[in-house]
Amino acid sequence: MAINPPVDATQTPAWAKLQKHYDELQAEGIDLKKWFAEDADRVKNLTFDAGTLHFDLSKNLIKPETLAMFAELADDVKLAERTKAMFSGVHINNTEDRAVLHTALRRPDSDKGAVIVDGQDAVADVRATLERIYAFANKVRSGEWKGVTGKEIKTVVNIGIGGSDLGPAMAYKALRPYADAGITARFVSNIDPNDIAEKTRDLDPETTLFVVVSKTFTTLETLTNAREAREWLLGELKMRNAIDDSEEKAAEAVSKHFIAVSTNLEKVAEFGIDPNNAFGFWNWVGGRYSVDSAVGTTLAIVFGPARFEEFLAGFREIDKYFAETPFEKNVVVLLGMLNVWYRNFFNVASHAVLPYNQYLDRFPAYLQQLTMESNGKSVRWDGTPVTTQTGEIFWGEPGTNGQHAFYQLIHQGTQLIPADFIAFANTTNPLKDGDQDVQELFLGNFLAQTKALAFGKTADEVRAEGTPEEIVPARVFEGNRPTTSIFGVRLDPFALGELIALYEQITFVEGTVWGLDSYDQWGVELGKQLAKEITPALSKSDEALLAQDPSTIDLINYYRKVREF
Ligand code: F6P
Repeated sequence: MAINPPVDATQTPAWAKLQKHYDELQAEGIDLKKWFAEDADRVKNLTFDAGTLHFDLSKNLIKPETLAMFAELADDVKLAERTKAMFSGVHINNTEDRAVLHTALRRPDSDKGAVIVDGQDAVADVRATLERIYAFANKVRSGEWKGVTGKEIKTVVNIGIGGSDLGPAMAYKALRPYADAGITARFVSNIDPNDIAEKTRDLDPETTLFVVVSKTFTTLETLTNAREAREWLLGELKMRNAIDDSEEKAAEAVSKHFIAVSTNLEKVAEFGIDPNNAFGFWNWVGGRYSVDSAVGTTLAIVFGPARFEEFLAGFREIDKYFAETPFEKNVVVLLGMLNVWYRNFFNVASHAVLPYNQYLDRFPAYLQQLTMESNGKSVRWDGTPVTTQTGEIFWGEPGTNGQHAFYQLIHQGTQLIPADFIAFANTTNPLKDGDQDVQELFLGNFLAQTKALAFGKTADEVRAEGTPEEIVPARVFEGNRPTTSIFGVRLDPFALGELIALYEQITFVEGTVWGLDSYDQWGVELGKQLAKEITPALSKSDEALLAQDPSTIDLINYYRKVREF
């Protein structure tokens, strides 16, 4: 297959302009206070609306004229062409020779026939699968679907890892207030036996449904946990004499308490899950881009089809905005370029994502897979080395908790850490503390932090507070620490869809600038392969032990000495 080499962004006219601009800003002195004072239109020119979200980029280390250079870079790296290729099903994931069509997952019924991939009507397939999922979800929600002893389902346990866990687990937490059918969910991902042990300890097998989610249906963690869950289910049911010892009854129990989500339906059947209770997706959906596919089945059950449709509509809103808005006004493109600006010109290594909403506490973890598995790469899509730094480290925790933990380093540390602050005006849980609205107390912090980071506090201001001279330096805040504020109306399924699509497309923009195939993940393979070789060395095989390197041998010998069976 002929591969079009990526444009080397660093050799483009726009890159040269950005370099010159960066040098000029450094020479002039980066000074947000001054830039705000000198430019009355700064906020107007650096704020945007997309869907229900409002974006303030004004506290970033850019000037309004920087945006035109970002847009030029997008042109120079042929972002429009690549976006079109992605949306239309071209195999842009060339190391796996696959289309990249997560955008087809959220297309409406009316788009049937609009995306034909390898001869297949992607939207028709998506909608048909969703109809099956919704029918199943409605049965579980209404109580029509019963467990093997005739009881309704009360708990759904999602078994999956990576993209088959992080998306549904994050969205379940984010949308908790919308769970309206009396069904809760749990998530088992780790192969650490503690995970499944703790998640099943107080579970009622008669009212539990396991959803085994694995794109490949070969993932060690997921298949091991699924087997463990099956053992647990049958063991518990037998212990309480709810089923007899016959194979027929065991098969019936599995068929009532296990469903599967996979692209590999043959392997699902091999595992013993009824193909009627399996929901498929396609190899053109990357694991970390799959929460809005059948991978979200747990969400459709807990929140219902109508809410799931709202979730998809949120994604669609941002996809449309991203694909149709001119680059210079396109906040999705601009945020991608802003990340490139910090990574490559300011040489920053990490990027904080700080949601001011407790329901989003797994959002940073979700973003870590999305962004770092996508863009943590050193070769470009044609196999040539990258020409500049790639992939930032994404991390974060909800505010205000983070304020009392790591914000110190963001405010006064020696490295620059651009941060996205995300908040919603309305809360699901309005509270008063006396006459103080607690949501306002919370949002006051959201606003205060970005202000403190941008404008800081000078030595004179510290002195004016009567601070003894010797501790003045410790109390100075330099300011000029960049933040983007993302403000929404409320965290509902639509807004969550918007937020996820936003970061998906930001990741794509960055990957395009760096010339990366953001949709493969070869970097996870070596560890998997070595784990297979090393596991027997732990206690089963001396031969396998001796085949290891000295450090691994030493660690295993330590293990053999202290492990208690
Ligand atoms: O090991 C990485 C990975 O392949 C992820 O990309 C993926 O989301 C995860 O494993 C789980 O894979 P699967 O859904 O096939 O079980």
